[in-house]
Amino acid sequence: MTTLQPVRGTRDFYPEEMRVRNWLFDIWRQTSLRFGFEEYDACVLESEDLYIRKAGDEITEQLYSFEDKGGRRIALRPEMTPSLARLILQRKNTLSFPLKWFTIPQCFRYERMTRGRKREHYQWNLDVVGQPDLTAEVEVISALLTSLEKTGLDASHVELRVNDRQILNGLLSNIGIPEDRHTEAMVVIDKREKLSPEVLDQLLRDVGLDNDQLDKLNAFFSAAEESFAEVGRHLGSHGAATEGLLRLLELLQGVGLRDYITIDCTVVRGLSYYTGTVFELRDRAGKFRSICGGGRYDSLLSAFGGESIPAIGFGFGDVVIQELLAELKLLPELTHDIDFAVLPFSEQQAPVALEVAQRLRGAGFRAGSDFSYRKLGRALQRASEIGARKAVLLLPEELERGELVVRDMAARTEVRVDKEAFLNDPE
Ligand code: HAM
Repeated sequence: MTTLQPVRGTRDFYPEEMRVRNWLFDIWRQTSLRFGFEEYDACVLESEDLYIRKAGDEITEQLYSFEDKGGRRIALRPEMTPSLARLILQRKNTLSFPLKWFTIPQCFRYERMTRGRKREHYQWNLDVVGQPDLTAEVEVISALLTSLEKTGLDASHVELRVNDRQILNGLLSNIGIPEDRHTEAMVVIDKREKLSPEVLDQLLRDVGLDNDQLDKLNAFFSAAEESFAEVGRHLGSHGAATEGLLRLLELLQGVGLRDYITIDCTVVRGLSYYTGTVFELRDRAGKFRSICGGGRYDSLLSAFGGESIPAIGFGFGDVVIQELLAELKLLPELTHDIDFAVLPFSEQQAPVALEVAQRLRGAGFRAGSDFSYRKLGRALQRASEIGARKAVLLLPEELERGELVVRDMAARTEVRVDKEAFLNDPE
């Protein structure tokens, strides 16, 4: 028998779920537009090689990929950033930088299913490409935090943990790890919270760290958890790496967003292409997975064979945010609503009902009709179920006289109106 369940890890969106999704997407879209970003899109199918990276990114192992009938290796996109890079490289000679682009793509990852992680999710992406300085960081972070306020969240519920990978680069250099191993080491370090210390140490040994280097790395993280002031002491001659982060903090203070920000030098993010600022949005109670993650990726475009173009952005999934808003009782109760339900009571009235509904729509109203010809009481009940503000009753005697009965559903009042006069000016 055909299974009626959605594929494991994927979701169906019934109208009630769709209303919530649209509510959230509207907030994302309106925020993006308010910050001057333009929307783009690409196909969910991409060449698999777009996602093959040598640094051992987890995302590469989670690909939904297959061979198409022409023998090409194809993947469902697990994230949007490589597609964005591809689009930009294709037109780099005609595009005018900096670009401020956003999109809300559906992404697919064959994940181990845990709370907050599904095998398909939508992800608001907002990126600034071609702007090398920290003003780009401030713009994307401001857009992100502004969107939260529209959902009812504030700095008492969530924090943005910010770091700069250059600090970790500084540390790794200081303890003698060659630069060409840094990215691989960071992809492992990102798993600190998920793996036991023994497993983590072993993975780092595989990257080439010896016991002394492991001790220094662990000492750094203990210090970083204590306070940011301690971090500089572990960087030796690379101490200047902390300056960017401090400057960013100052700029964010200037736009009134300091309350959200926690400097956290243990934040790495799992994608190997990040080169500088990295950040993640977490709930303060620490119950949920990261709500949003992003960072600066100044060399992704050059990795695809283009010249290097600085870029920064984030991906904000639709799963964790909804879990958090539900827990905090901040999800809105959204109901379906229409302006008019047109109610005929016999088949002969169908043509008039169709005409009335069509003219109401023409006048700019949302109008539905109910052709089940129920008795008055049941028809009104149905009209209120579909969220009608008013019902237009086609009662036989009134209709004969060229009249309609318009009922205000909330006030439970009715008025008799001339059909033509009403349809020429419905309210
Ligand atoms: P990411 O950190 O892999 O970054 O994902 C960003 C966000 O997408 C996560 O914080 C989470 O909200 C959501 N997400 C990821 N995987 C899942 C999943 N399996 N189920 C539900 N939600 C998920 C990126 O994808 C980068 N491309 C973001 C970016 C854009 N960086 C710069 N520009």
